[in-house]
This record gives sequence, C-alpha cells and structure tokens, in this order.
Amino acid sequence: MIAQRKDDHVRLAVEQQQQHSGRNQFDEVAFVHHALAGLDRAEVGLGTAFAGISWQVPLYINAMTGGSERTGLINRDLAIAARETGVALASGSMSAYFKDPDCADTFSVLRKENPGGFVIANVNATASVDKASRAVDLLQADALQIHVNTVQETVMPEGDRSFSSWAPRIGEIAAGVDVPVIVKEVGFGLSRETVRRLEGLGVRVADLGGRGGTDFARIENGRRRLGDYAYLTDWGQSTAACLLDAQEAGLPVLASGGVRHPLDVARALALGASGVGVSGTFLRTLLDDGVSALIERITVWLDQLTALLTMLGARTPAELTHCDLLIRGELRDFCADRGIDPGPFARRSSSPDLPNETTGNTR
Ligand SMILES: Cc1cc2nc3c(=O)[nH]c(=O)nc-3n(C[C@H](O)[C@H](O)[C@H](O)COP(=O)(O)O)c2cc1C
Repeated sequence: MIAQRKDDHVRLAVEQQQQHSGRNQFDEVAFVHHALAGLDRAEVGLGTAFAGISWQVPLYINAMTGGSERTGLINRDLAIAARETGVALASGSMSAYFKDPDCADTFSVLRKENPGGFVIANVNATASVDKASRAVDLLQADALQIHVNTVQETVMPEGDRSFSSWAPRIGEIAAGVDVPVIVKEVGFGLSRETVRRLEGLGVRVADLGGRGGTDFARIENGRRRLGDYAYLTDWGQSTAACLLDAQEAGLPVLASGGVRHPLDVARALALGASGVGVSGTFLRTLLDDGVSALIERITVWLDQLTALLTMLGARTPAELTHCDLLIRGELRDFCADRGIDPGPFARRSSSPDLPNETTGNTR
C-alpha cells in the first residue's frame, strides 16, 4: 500500500511538472541592476554555513522518495548525482521502512552510493524518538528532517487526521536525536508564527517549503476517486512570501518549493535562505533523461550560480543578502498585509550597516 503510494507520488509529480505554467512568485522578486557591482569570478565561493552545518554549495536535493523497488532505483540515482556534484541530499519519508524493514535498502542506498556526502533522514511528525533515531542510524544521517504536511494528509485518501500531537512530538524528537533537526513543509509554506514556534520546540532549522512548484493537494486529489478537493489547489504561501515573512523569525531558514533555475536560487539566498532545495525539477530531469543528465544539470546550475554571484558582486551566498531587491505584484500585497516593509530591500547595498558603501550591490 505505501509502496503503491510512493510510485503514485512520483508519477503524479512528474505529470504536474509537465503541466506547470512555468510562473510562480519568485518572478515577483527582481535584483536592482548595478552595472559596476561585478567581481572577479575567482573571488566567489559557494560555501554556506548555518546551525553548525557547513555545505560546500548552497543547493540540495530535497526529500522525495523510497519504499518501493522503483523508488529505490530513483534514490540510487539521486545519491549518485549528489555524490558527483557535492550537493546535500534528503531522503523521502521513511515511514515505509518502519512498517516494512524489508524495504530498508531503498533508503540506505542514499548512503551506500554517497558515503562522504551530507545525507538527511526524513520522518513525519508522529514518529517516536526511537523511530527517528532508527531513521538517522539507517542512513548514518547528518541531519533529520521532520515533515509537516497537514494539507497533504487532509486530501490524501488514507491520510492522518489528528494533528494536535505534532508540535509536542517535534519537541521530543529534537531533544532526543543527536543530529540537527530541520522541520520542513512540503509545498504549502511555513509562516513566521510557525517558525517561531519551531524555535521554541528546539528545532535548529526551518525549511520553508512553500508554494510554487510541486502541489501535493493536487497530487493527493489525483489519487481520490472523486477528485473532490480540487479547491485546495494553490493553498498556502509561496516560497518567496515565506522568506519575506520569516525575516526576523529567529531560526536559520532553507528555501524550497518552486525553485526552477539558478536565478530562483539566487533570489532565495538574497531573501535570506542559507540553502535552497529542489525536488520536482530535478526528479523530472532524472526520469526524462537519466542520471547523467541530472548530474550535468546540477553542475550547470552551480556554475551559473557562481556566475550570478560574480555579476551581482557577492563573494558568498550570504553576501547576496546585501543586494538590492525589488518586490512586486501580489508579493508586495502580501508584504503589506503581513506588515513587512519591502522598501528597505531595494536599498540594502547603501545601508549604513554595511562596512563600505559602493555603487555596487555589496560591500
Ligand atoms: C515525488 C515526490 C515525493 C515527495 N515525498 C516527500 C516526502 O516523503 N517527505 C517530504 O518531506 N517531502 C516530500 N516531497 C516534497 C518535497 O520535499 C518538496 O517539499 C516539494 O516537492 C516542493 O518542492 P519542489 O517544488 O521543488 O518540488 C516530495 C516531493 C516529490 C516531488
């Protein structure tokens, strides 16, 4: 039953990628162009550090799958791609492993193929501390994601309908495992209120997991006989909106959901993300064109991200937060409603808080 669901998710997510309009709210974030801001490429590095974690690049393949024969092969290929490109990699939910330990290999292949990489285990918010620890042990994981997905569970025919235990359980897991805990949404977004609450629960990192890419309300609705939750399509906050909302929320944030190309990665970093996760876009590349194509695609993204930082005058991903950004359209309306002033984002490079003001975007 779980194995069938995992195969359905992959099929429906790829179908959705093929039908996606191509637009999302990252399009409402623009860099102010400063013609003399550029650096020399050799001055630029992609390393990022947050919550005691250091990555050589600020990109990761976010949680997708495992639990069936087919998804085990997908995990093998994702692990190979992560190993060859140096990006971090998260497992899909490991509930299937707790129900049927015989499918352990479909998850542990993530570590087997990528022995030196940064690997993240993934459990739901009802997992016991013991299960969470078993998930970490199976992958020799460097961090643990707990996914929070009330919308998905609501639409999923066989979904969980009891959510009140999630917050205390997250606190227990965060206190009980010996790797950093990341709480992630699956495409509906974490509000700043939620991020603050997570901080109080001992969570180290929030993966904002916003709207704009894979839509799990649509995926689960596609698995319902009557398809009667169509009205929940597009629920939630976009990833760009979440980043703006979480500016002062207290935890380091990762951005995922609807990341389509290196410019979206740069936009997310400029809005304060410490790292940027991609699922659907990379899954489609893998399934359409194979693992070599995925390796090539990630390599090109990292190369172009370096090029964008060079052009924008940012020596590191963190320095992108000194770049001037214009917030437009519905995203600007969101800011107004949530009490966020978009004005200062457009004038950050000349902020007196920076060591030396230039005509460029950064110090
Ligand atoms: C096929 C598929 C399966 C997924 N399964 C999981 C999962 O098991 N656990 C989880 O936390 N997120 C899961 N996700 C959600 C992704 O991690 C991510 O939050 C979401 O897809 C939005 O990112 P995207 O727009 O780049 O696809 C899955 C995504 C896809 C495409």
